[in-house]
Amino acid sequence: MKIITVRLAGRSYPIFVGTKILSHLAPLLREQAGWSQLVLLTDTTVAGLHLERVRTVIPGNVTLITIPAGELSKSLAQLGELFDRFAEIRLGRRDVLLTFGGGVVGDLGGFAAATWHRGIRYLQIPTTLEAAVDASIGGKTGINHAGGKNLIGAFHQPSAVLIDTDFFATLGLRDLAAGLAESIKHAALTSAAFLDWHEQHADAILARDPATLAELVARNCEIKADVVCRDEREADVRRILNYGHTIGHAIEHLLAFELRHGECVGLGMLVENEIAHRRGLLPRSEADRVRAVLARFGLPLKLPQTLDAAAVLEACRSDKKAQAGHVPFALIAGIGQPQIASEIDAADVKAALRVIDPNL
Ligand code: GLY
Repeated sequence: MKIITVRLAGRSYPIFVGTKILSHLAPLLREQAGWSQLVLLTDTTVAGLHLERVRTVIPGNVTLITIPAGELSKSLAQLGELFDRFAEIRLGRRDVLLTFGGGVVGDLGGFAAATWHRGIRYLQIPTTLEAAVDASIGGKTGINHAGGKNLIGAFHQPSAVLIDTDFFATLGLRDLAAGLAESIKHAALTSAAFLDWHEQHADAILARDPATLAELVARNCEIKADVVCRDEREADVRRILNYGHTIGHAIEHLLAFELRHGECVGLGMLVENEIAHRRGLLPRSEADRVRAVLARFGLPLKLPQTLDAAAVLEACRSDKKAQAGHVPFALIAGIGQPQIASEIDAADVKAALRVIDPNL
C-alpha cells in the first residue's frame, strides 16, 4: 500500500492506494471525531457490483442512498433529492458522507457535502480509474447545468481518499481507457518518462494487473497532489490540469455525454495539440507521441460525428474558465512543458478540429 498526502494548510489528507484498501475504512472513520450518522452514496451500477464489500466494513449507523448511474445524475434535481434525504434523517454538521462510485457520485456527493450545513466531511472511495487518477483528488466538486459541464460547484477537500485497485478488475475496456486518458494527460504535462511508462506497461495495464494499476494510480496521485498543494483554487499552476479539457468539455456537452469524459479529454488533447502545433509551439513529433499512446489504449482518435466548429467554439466560451468571452487554453510546448495560452484564434480551433473529424 502507498499513502500520498495532499498537504494543504490545516487540511492535509491522505490518499491510500493499493489492494484490500477498504480494511482502512473503519479505523479512518473512528478518527473522524463526533459523527453519529454516516451516509453512503453510490449509484445503481456500483451498488450492483460492489455494495456488500463496503457495507461489511462500515461501522455504526449508515444510510444508503443510491442514485441512477450516469452523468444525468449530476443535476440540481438529483442534488435536491439528496438534500431531502439528508433533512429526513437529520444529517448533522458533524456527520460524514462516503462517496462510493465514479466521478458522478464523487462530484455530486462532494458538492452536497460542501453545501449541506455549510460543509460536512466526506471521504471518497472511487471505483473507476477515471475518478481514482483525477476526479476524487483535489476537492473540485459540482454538478452540470444546461449551459455547460460543472458550471455549479465548490472547492471542498475530502477528509481521505481510499483507492482500492481491486475495483478496476470489473471495468470494461472503454472505462479503463477513459481513466488512462487522464493519466496520459498527467504524463504529457509532466514527464516524458511517465508517458513512455504507459507504453512499456500497456499489456499489464490492459490485463488490469493490480500492482501495475496501483503504481499508475499512485503516480497520478503524486502528480495531482503536487499541483493541488501549490494552487488549491486554480489561480495559477492548477490551470495546467485543464489541458485537453476545454475542447474536451465542449465535445462532451455537444455530444450529450455519448462519449466517456476521458474519451473526450483524449480528443481534446489531440485538438489542443494541433492548436499548439499551428501556433508554432509544439513540434509535430511530440503531438504524435501523445497520439500514439492514446491509440495504444484504443482511445478514440476521431469523433463519432462531425461537429460544427462554431458550436464547439461557442461551447468553449461557456466554459467556466472563460473570462469576458476569452477562454484560456492549457497547451503543451513539448512533453512536460505546459503553458497557458490566453488568446486562441477561432480560425485555429476550426482548423485544429479537423484532426478529429471522422470525414477526413
Ligand atoms: N481535473 C482538473 C483539476 O482537478 O484541477
